[in-house]
Amino acid sequence: MTRPFVIALDGPAAAGKGTLAKRLAAHFGLAYLDTGALYRAVGLSVLRQGKDPTDPIAATEAAKNLPADLLQDPELRSAASGDASSKVAAIPSVRAALFDWQRRFAAEPQPFADGTPRSGSVLDGRDIGTVICPDADVKIFVTATPEARANRRLKELQARGEKAIYARVLEDIVARDARDTARADAPMKAAEDAVHLDTSDLDIDQVFAKAKAIVDERLKPS
Ligand code: DC
Repeated sequence: MTRPFVIALDGPAAAGKGTLAKRLAAHFGLAYLDTGALYRAVGLSVLRQGKDPTDPIAATEAAKNLPADLLQDPELRSAASGDASSKVAAIPSVRAALFDWQRRFAAEPQPFADGTPRSGSVLDGRDIGTVICPDADVKIFVTATPEARANRRLKELQARGEKAIYARVLEDIVARDARDTARADAPMKAAEDAVHLDTSDLDIDQVFAKAKAIVDERLKPS
């Protein structure tokens, strides 16, 4: 049996990984896992219990007992969940509790709704190319300037009806980058063999075209 094809997309918050991952998954018929949603769900679960997301015991308990329906909760995209997610993500036992699930998703891609098997998956996050799937067939590190990312996140939050101001969103993005990069366990980092894709001045069609070309090149018979 051939090994499932894996595309690893890593990079900072609001760089455009999620939109790109969904487009690549749809185009190539691959399963898609938003690994940030797992950390957001842990963060949200801790907040809903009235506990502190930096508390390792509460956060690890939440990671071990994540209800599947929480992954669909609209609150996952809120600024509060985003902030809590990067706090729980710095706790090694939280990362350990989510590790096997992510590995299994990549090793055994979920079939299409009609049962047809899929040939692989796209995972997006911070440590996919370095820790979760170090053997991924394609690794792309998606970046954009903090200002471009703050503008995108502002629009996203406003579209959700949240009151948000640019300066505060930018501050949150910079703080989250610092926390995700500085943590000791699986920090946000480009894999040595990742292709870097700066999306600051590109629209989604341009980003998709560049990423598709990278994947097509990898799929070419040698
Ligand atoms: O991609 P996102 O903004 O939804 O991710 C939310 C947080 O989860 C982010 O601040 C860092 C953390 N995260 C992580 O540590 N590792 C991943 N593979 C994905 C997300």
